[in-house]
Amino acid sequence: MIYGVSWYPEHRERAQMEAEIDLMVQAGVQAVRMGEFAWCRLEPCEGVFHFEWLDEAVDLLANAGIQSIVCTPTACPPAWLVMRHPEILYVDNRGVTRPFGGRRHYCYTNETYRRHCARIASAIGARYGRDPRVMAFQIDNEPAQEATGRCHCSACEAAFRTWLAARYGSVAELNRRWGTIFWSQEYDGFDQIGLPVNPIEPDAMPAIRAYYENPSLRLEYERFCSESQHVFQNVQRDALKAHTDKPVTTNGTGVATNSIDYYISFADLDVYAFDAYPSLRDGRISAFMHAHARGVKAGAPYWLLEFVSGGGHRLSGSGRLQPFPGAMRQSVLQAAVHGCELLLHFQFRTFPMGAEQLNYAILDQDGIPRRRFHEMRRTADDLVRLADLLDRTAPANEVAILFDYDTHWALRIKPVNEPAFDYIDWCGRIHDRLAEAGIGADVVPFSADLSGYRLVIAPSPFVMDEAVKTRLKTYVAGGGHLLSGFLAAAKNPDNLGFQTSLPCGLTDLFGVRVAEVEPVFAGTETRIALKTAGCDATSRWWLEMLEPETEVVHVANSTLSPPDGAPQTAGTKPPAGTELPAGTEPPEGTKPLAGTELPAGTEPAVFTGICLDTFRAGLPVLSERRYGRGLAAYLGTGLDDAALQAWLVAMADKAGVHAAPWRLGPDLEAVHRTGNGREAWFLFNFRKEAVCLEIATTTAEQAFDQVDALTGERIGNTGPIPANGLR
Ligand code: GAL
Ligand code: ZN
Repeated sequence: MIYGVSWYPEHRERAQMEAEIDLMVQAGVQAVRMGEFAWCRLEPCEGVFHFEWLDEAVDLLANAGIQSIVCTPTACPPAWLVMRHPEILYVDNRGVTRPFGGRRHYCYTNETYRRHCARIASAIGARYGRDPRVMAFQIDNEPAQEATGRCHCSACEAAFRTWLAARYGSVAELNRRWGTIFWSQEYDGFDQIGLPVNPIEPDAMPAIRAYYENPSLRLEYERFCSESQHVFQNVQRDALKAHTDKPVTTNGTGVATNSIDYYISFADLDVYAFDAYPSLRDGRISAFMHAHARGVKAGAPYWLLEFVSGGGHRLSGSGRLQPFPGAMRQSVLQAAVHGCELLLHFQFRTFPMGAEQLNYAILDQDGIPRRRFHEMRRTADDLVRLADLLDRTAPANEVAILFDYDTHWALRIKPVNEPAFDYIDWCGRIHDRLAEAGIGADVVPFSADLSGYRLVIAPSPFVMDEAVKTRLKTYVAGGGHLLSGFLAAAKNPDNLGFQTSLPCGLTDLFGVRVAEVEPVFAGTETRIALKTAGCDATSRWWLEMLEPETEVVHVANSTLSPPDGAPQTAGTKPPAGTELPAGTEPPEGTKPLAGTELPAGTEPAVFTGICLDTFRAGLPVLSERRYGRGLAAYLGTGLDDAALQAWLVAMADKAGVHAAPWRLGPDLEAVHRTGNGREAWFLFNFRKEAVCLEIATTTAEQAFDQVDALTGERIGNTGPIPANGLR
């Protein structure tokens, strides 16, 4: 992994640059990113370029053995450009124009702005595209950050109408698909369609309270804006690529998403890159963002172009806590182990001016090397020690978590339990509970190739098209294990509900129907007996009562029996246990309906989670069924973390997933890498005290005799793993 920092030579005199580069060398810096906010220095007036200062920085760095990453400065259009073309300014959802004086004050759709961006990107490409001292290019900076992803200017409105016209062909078709007859919203022409005004982005303010817009319009607007960012990025990519073969990318914001579909936008860039500022004080494992990053380009290595460097002052909010000693090193090595190939701390040294004055950095304003600097040096040395092992191996996981931007947007557009339930948080919880049990997972899009995974988890796949449903059925029929969370297949890609039973188009796969739904608020939780996991759970966020697919069970006078062995009624399976003894015939009424084609081997659903209290006592919320050669399980509710983990581990076990051979636990992570005949485990302790791990599996009885790749020590089982440390 290439290790480095971002740096602002445009703030520096030559002597300061030299002194700082000396310190960079001491810290182990190999790459430096520059220029992303320096348009007024690169092009002080139209067509007059001044690269001398950047040349000088690139040169001084190269002399010190440090490679440069040069950015296009388009996150900050300069005053001369804004004054000449005020129409390029960003207009928010309230119609307020973002004035010059901050950053990200531009419209990404505006053709004039795109032309100027192409010009400066092309000048940068021409200058550095073949310069051996420059290793890569970054486009813009965190596109759509700071609530700038949804512009409401007239150019955006016109472009949205044109985009819709191309997608729908006729306004009649749009009316039909969006259901605009509701509230008398039918359009007579595309020119009547306006931009939705109430935002779903973090940090954006509602334009009009209690004003409920068409969810189909809103979802298309999300897609349009995401696509417009994609085109904006590609305009610059093309300009750079005309001059270079080096990697060109931009810095996304990881699982904070900024409402850009990174699966689409990064398909046109050479490497997925993102920025991350995990708290290095809370002992959390922060592994979900790495799993997500790995999945953006099908497992290819990714970059972290900005990574936290410390605490103290901060751009927004109230400042940031300093990392625990060792936590920065630990999290950098964690990134490397998860598949990150380049990581730059933001930033090397703080500065006195501007909105980010005195912001956290490796070096504070006085430039004196202190603990964060020394920790960086130590990390750089560790990366050298691990280089060979990391080069020859790659993360190897048997579990995939499906992640989808349409689902994320649709659940923001019409939330089901806000702010308690958040789709991305839910995906992350599932990932992290598995991680803490020694089970690594990849996070992949609905379109990913699933054939290599033993277990696929779809946390609440709310918006699904028919092709995805078919692929999941094929995966399970062929022997895959699939777990679906609640709210599955409730919407089509037009963000419309269905008029068939939930999960729509998948009841034949799961063998169940959803009978009734409601949110779970604090105080309305239900206790649930989790048969598979052998424990009780508490429902969270959302609850879906299930019934067998083959008969209608009315919840009010259900015949389903409680789990305590009370008599069973025809049409249900015993809730206790998940497997029928061989040769058992399913009771009448649970056989598939005549005419439904089910793969050979399919069995009726078995209910493995039963409500224990409230008026729902005895009713099912979790199910499992053999479908073809695989297994499909439906989780009708969120679960508390402990029960969620127990259930996931039990299901992973059924799927034959191999867990780490140690007993882990909260705030502990084991990452597995294989390749070239080698196998390595990386054990991370995010706790504030040392831990010694116990062997968990029988394979471990073949006496563990491990060597720590970092220290060369023979450590038997694992030896103690220090607080905020790793083995
Ligand atoms: C990022 C941004 C950087 C800097 C950083 C920390 O979101 O890309 O330019 O502002 O936050 O403040
Ligand atoms: Zn605009």
